[in-house]
Order: sequence, then structure tokens, then C-alpha cells
Amino acid sequence: MKAHKIAVIAGDGIGKEVMPEGLRCIDAAARKHGIAIQWDEFDWSCDYYLKHGTMMPADWKAQIGNHDAIFFGAVGDPARVPDHVSLWGSLLKFRREFDQYVNLRPARLMPGVKSPLVGREPGDIDFFIVRENTEGEYSSIGGKMFAGTEREFVVQESIFTRIGVDRVIRFAYQLAQRRDKKHLTSATKSNGISISMPYWDERFAAIGEEFPDVRTDKFHIDILTANFVRRPDYFDVVVASNLFGDILSDLGPACTGTIAIAPSANLNPERRFPSLFEPVHGSAPDIYGQQIANPIGQIWAGSMMLDHLGYPQAAADVLRAIETVLAEGPHTPDLGGKAKTGDLGKAIAEVIAGN
Ligand code: NAD
Ligand code: IPM
Ligand code: MN
Repeated sequence: MKAHKIAVIAGDGIGKEVMPEGLRCIDAAARKHGIAIQWDEFDWSCDYYLKHGTMMPADWKAQIGNHDAIFFGAVGDPARVPDHVSLWGSLLKFRREFDQYVNLRPARLMPGVKSPLVGREPGDIDFFIVRENTEGEYSSIGGKMFAGTEREFVVQESIFTRIGVDRVIRFAYQLAQRRDKKHLTSATKSNGISISMPYWDERFAAIGEEFPDVRTDKFHIDILTANFVRRPDYFDVVVASNLFGDILSDLGPACTGTIAIAPSANLNPERRFPSLFEPVHGSAPDIYGQQIANPIGQIWAGSMMLDHLGYPQAAADVLRAIETVLAEGPHTPDLGGKAKTGDLGKAIAEVIAGN
């Protein structure tokens, strides 16, 4: 059997602590389901930057461009490297150059986890955020003028291309169409951002004509965030521009008890390039070194990767094992427990093996 080649980039901070648990659990699922995986590790991180002056070698694309997927931890060491340098030199580069234009991020309240929202039970929160991942507010077009003078100013453009907007919105409609509620919400701000957001709304309505069975609505991003808190049970699939989707995808998981369990699939749906699977959270320098990071976001991202590689049963096994351990413990401190990162990884891997 030909092994799937996966590029592994643990990155910085707790990326280095949660990645081994991701590998442990996906290996357990692979053994059980007879899947051959070859993990190729790359030390591209802020440490690499401090040694070499770049986050990755010049031929990075050739080194991982033919892999079947990228399994990514987190990048960022803001005390030593400015965040925009490390992130634009790595994660954001992958998203753009591998055209991973969909960032799919589930928010689900799991059994055994307490929502900070009063009275919410598992089943009440179960939706997907579909975040545009290659353009929008994240652009490198702009600059600083008249630096150091009183006329100094900066400009940073937002870019919304028809191809870019249509393809992510279409993906979101297709996802909504496959779900029971068939309900798609669009995040807008067309009252204040008077050019790009009315355009987003226009394309959302136009693509909607292809999906008459999908119920739609739209909310301005400000009240949308309030509604995530007030009535998270209302949402099914939410499509958003790059920045709005970024904000919603920390808020959604926070409503499910902890951002640490949330995964993220950066997809190139046409499979011309490798897709990238990572937790939603970052490198968490505030807890790095204590082995108390919750590895579930990384492990769940691994489950999404198995699904992407064509192994839905193995993916479901990993998710079930996550659910079992969340329900029965052990728990890391973010969920009120005392367990270490490795305790969770081991517990989940054991459930996978014994399923
Ligand atoms: P963060 O997600 O790293 O941390 C936010 C808070 O959540 C912190 O208090 C942290 O301790 C906690 N947390 C995060 N993950 C956790 C886990 N698995 N278990 C327990 N607690 C967890 O966000 P931040 O503090 O804004 O950013 C820190 C660094 O990470 C920055 O350099 C930032 O740019 C970077 N970052 C990287 C990514 C990525 O690589 N995908 C994503 C977000 C932030
Ligand atoms: C995320 C992160 C990144 C983003 C940062 C680290 C550039 O917050 O993946 O959500 O803004 O996309
Ligand atoms: Mn984010």
C-alpha cells in the first residue's frame, strides 16, 4: 500500500507540545484502519527564523508541494519575532500559495464540557464557520507614506475578487445543503463598509439562486457576534470574509467551553495543492513549557485530515474517542482538570485503539 505523505510542521510554543499527541492519535487510527502514513517533519518555526533569517527555506514549496496534506501546530513567538513576520512567512503563505481558500471551522458543544453560556447543553451548539482564507481584509497591498512626519499615514487595501467571493460562498451553500437544517448565514457589514460588503451581499444572493433549498439570512458582524452568545442554537453554517471569519472562529468555540478543542481545515477543495490541518488556537506562549495545553484541537484537526484523505470511518473513530475522553476525563486545566497534554493524548489514543 502506498503511504500518504504528510508534512508535519509543529511550529512554536504549544504547537510543539500538542503535535506529538496529534501524531499519536492519528497513528492509532491509522493502525486500526490499515492506513499507511509517512510523517515528514519540518522544523520551520521562529527558531528557524532566528537561525536563518526566514521562516522557511527558499525551496519550501518544492519540499512540501507534493505532499498529501500538511499537519500544522501553531506559529508565533511574539517576544522574539514580530507576529506579522512569522505568520506572513509561514501559515499565511501556505494558505495563499496553496490556494487554501476555504477555512472550515466547526464549533460544537461536546458532552462533558460546560458552556460558559447559561443553560446550553450538548446539541445546542453545532455549527460550522466557513471562513474565506486567501483574500479580503488580509492583504499585503498598501504601505506607509511620509514616515516620521506629521503627514505620516498607512493604507491597507481589502481585496474581494468575484472568483474568490463566489467560490467560498458556493462551498458554504454546498455544505449547508448537505446538513439537516440547510441553513446558511452570511456575515456582512454593508451598512458601514460600503463597497466590499454590499458586493459580498450581492454575490451571496446571486450564488443562492443555485441552492433554492437552502434557507439563508445575513447579519451585520456586530450583532452576529452578539447572537453567537445569545442564541448559538440558531446557527448551522456561517460564511464570512477572512477577518470576520477569524473573529467568529474564536468566539464560536469559546461558547463551546474552550477554544483549545477547535480544529481548522484549510482546504484547497480542487486538490491541486495540499490542504492544511491545524488547531484554531495559537502558540499560547503564556502556558508553553508546562505541558498543560489541551491537545484536542490538534487531534480533531487530524480527524478532519483523515476525512480529507478519504477515511471517514477513521475520522469518525477519532472524533468519538475525543467525545469519550471529554465526557469521562481526564481534562486539562482549560476545562477545569489537572491532566497534562500527554495524558489526554494517551487516553484518546487508547480509546481509538480499543473502539
Ligand atoms: P492563542 O490561541 O495562542 O492563546 C489565547 C489564549 O488561549 C491563551 O491564554 C492560551 O493559553 C489559551 N490557549 C490556546 N490554546 C490552548 C490550548 N491548546 N490549551 C489550553 N489553553 C490554550 O492566541 P494569542 O495569545 O493571541 O497568540 C499567541 C501567538 O500565537 C501569537 O504569536 C499569535 O500570532 C499566534 N497565533 C498563531 C496561530 C496559528 O499558528 N494558527 C493562531 C492564533 C495565534
Ligand atoms: C487563525 C489565526 C491567524 C489568522 C493568525 C495567526 C495570522 O488567528 O488561524 O485564526 O488570523 O488567520
Ligand atoms: Mn484566529
